Amino acid sequence: MTDVPLFEGLVLGIETSCDETSAALVEGRRVRSNVVSSQASLHEKWGGVVPEAAARSHVESILPVVEEALERAAASLGEISGLAVTNRPGLIGGLSVGLTAAKGFAYALGRPFVGVHHLEGHLMSVLAETEGFRADVTFPHLALIVSGGHTEIVLVHESGRYELIGQTLDDAAGEAFDKSARLLGLGYPGGRAIEQAALEGDPKRYPLPRALPGDPFNFSFSGLKTAVLRLVEREGNQLKVADAAASAQEAIVGVLTAKFLAAAEETESRCLSLVGGVAANEALRSRLQDGCYRRGLAFICPPPDLCTDNAAMIALAGSRRLASGERDDWNLDALSLANLTDP
Ligand code: KG4
Ligand code: ZN
Repeated sequence: MTDVPLFEGLVLGIETSCDETSAALVEGRRVRSNVVSSQASLHEKWGGVVPEAAARSHVESILPVVEEALERAAASLGEISGLAVTNRPGLIGGLSVGLTAAKGFAYALGRPFVGVHHLEGHLMSVLAETEGFRADVTFPHLALIVSGGHTEIVLVHESGRYELIGQTLDDAAGEAFDKSARLLGLGYPGGRAIEQAALEGDPKRYPLPRALPGDPFNFSFSGLKTAVLRLVEREGNQLKVADAAASAQEAIVGVLTAKFLAAAEETESRCLSLVGGVAANEALRSRLQDGCYRRGLAFICPPPDLCTDNAAMIALAGSRRLASGERDDWNLDALSLANLTDP
């Protein structure tokens, strides 16, 4: 059963590590508001996130986004009892904006704040309680984190104590979606675009490689990108884009599912969670749901808006840290690189 002590009162979460400016208010597990302002249209013309432009956009959006989070929660600044902010890993410019804002609020309100690892935020998204979602999270459980920058299988012994079981040796799963989408002319960000195009496609039409068959729990997606490039060159204007999208999605979803379920067996896990932006993918969600059902395993996957980057997950992870007495001080820095298992 879930037994994660959370901080008393309202916790404000702030997330600015990549191209989403987000602020959320949680009270216990309950998400009172979760506002996400996406910069996708800003970066679309470049086909990827431009760090300098992202940082400037966070500067513009951060206060309106916090204001809207307060408004939607029908709360006032004075009701905030603690703050949580993503301080690692991510783009330094963006992280610095969120961190500075959080410190400013903490200082002005005289409330404690903690820095949160972005991936811990994704892991703790399973704790969220919304209108349509509340999961019985058990510990230990096995998590698959799939995002634009990470692909990791993590054994969550308890919140805050993590063991890395497997990871990607090159591109992340989200990158594989984004790069394949770009090669297929489907635009940015690519994950949703591939998913949409794949709805009309035949996943068996173009067989694409499944990487690292001999390595049970690690992943490699860079070969897929090359294979999609070759496919595009070979087929030219004969290419059936929907079939290529479905085939690329199948290559990614198939390997993620097989290795995650194999890791569950190896670690004797009874409860599996799927988190991170790529967890918004319906093909991956239903394949894993099905695999878990057939093995009698519990399966938790938050709704899509809590899978892609958001501040509610940061508030939840921070709330747990605040409840255990953790506090950060004004020296807390932003880090572009940091492992989840670092102290
Ligand atoms: O967790 P996230 O929002 O940001 C990072 O921490 O990176 O993940 C973003 C990634 C992107 O690569 C995006 O293409 C992918 O998640 N993504 C999807 C879907 N929605 C977002 N991938 C596949 N299917 C989707 N529906
Ligand atoms: Zn993320």
